[in-house]
Amino acid sequence: MTALQNDTFLRALLRQPTDYTPVWMMRQAGRYLPEYRESRKTAGSFLSLCKSPDFATEVTLQPLDRYPLLDASILFSDILTVPDAMGLGLYFEEGEGPKFERTASDEASIRALEVPDMTKLQYVFDAVSQIRKAINGRVPLIGFAGSPWTLATYMVEGKGGTDFLNTKKLMYARPELLHHILEVNAQTIIQYLNAQIASGAQAVMIFDSWGGALSHKAYIKFSLNYMQKIVAGLTKNNDGCKVPSIVFTKGGALWLEAQAEIGADALGLDWAVDIGQARKRVGDKVALQGNLDPAILLSTPEAIEKEVVSILASYGKGHGHVFNLGHGITQWTPPENAAAMLAAVRKHSKQYHQ
Ligand code: CP3
Repeated sequence: MTALQNDTFLRALLRQPTDYTPVWMMRQAGRYLPEYRESRKTAGSFLSLCKSPDFATEVTLQPLDRYPLLDASILFSDILTVPDAMGLGLYFEEGEGPKFERTASDEASIRALEVPDMTKLQYVFDAVSQIRKAINGRVPLIGFAGSPWTLATYMVEGKGGTDFLNTKKLMYARPELLHHILEVNAQTIIQYLNAQIASGAQAVMIFDSWGGALSHKAYIKFSLNYMQKIVAGLTKNNDGCKVPSIVFTKGGALWLEAQAEIGADALGLDWAVDIGQARKRVGDKVALQGNLDPAILLSTPEAIEKEVVSILASYGKGHGHVFNLGHGITQWTPPENAAAMLAAVRKHSKQYHQ
């Protein structure tokens, strides 16, 4: 394997010294890029992009080719490949987001859930190894999975939601059934992430996109505990290198102290929290990744630069910050505004690393 030419991102996750603050963008390969929309048209659909290692490689590399200032790449795939492999039948309807043909919402369908054979996800592992070769050492490759709780919301509801009432009803009425789903998910994700690592992923991220919908007690019990179990089961070293882990609960900044204890190397932050205050709360236990509001990328290069300066200043001097958006880049982002953000991070971050 070609030697890594830029390890700034991996070093920042491990809170080691770097010359500047590394940066990448959640959903950096996606609909805001005309070249992505072109590839999706050729492939026929989003899922065909995910299921073909050739297409997944092509679109993973698009943001890297366009933006030389990116310090990391992320596998092009989706968190919902996992419930799909469990037999729930993932599909997308134009403009409507993800849906499942079957749900795991009553006792029988929940008890029938099992850790799927990883060969069902071989297309993901093939994509990881092919992407890793194609990147050719330019920047590290991030692998990822959804959190057990976030995947459970899709498995119970059968689609995306905002209040997750069916999942919460199950949680309050039949907690043992929800625990069964979460346990199967956690065991699956350990195998899934470790197979991504074995295929070449150099860091891994767990997306707990809907953990913020839970009460304090429920978050610890039904989301954080299962992420802790996953982190404990992850391969920590591969090919002579440490494989750092990032845990991101959207809307989860209330619980940063508890998150910092689960053994992850870094925590993701959305835009609701001041990153300087977050840093004080977690101390030197973890690195922090975030936390620019993606909506700012709809504005102007001047407004973007100002906000970048403010986040960098709030984090302050020292290492352990990976600059990112607080959630995925929106499809209405002008690509040149993303470039302005990346340039501002590079320009203004060096002073904090002297
Ligand atoms: O970040 C990247 O560039 C890597 C690829 C990636 C995708 N999805 C591609 C995608 C990653 C890391 C994800 C994770 C994901 N998927 C999450 C967790 C992160 C988050 O955003 O909270 C979730 C909740 C999903 C489930 C999902 N997939 C939803 C809700 C949707 C529809 C909403 C939307 O933004 O379109 C998807 C589709 C999806 N996943 C697209 C992409 C590029 C858009 C598909 C298209 O081309 O139409």
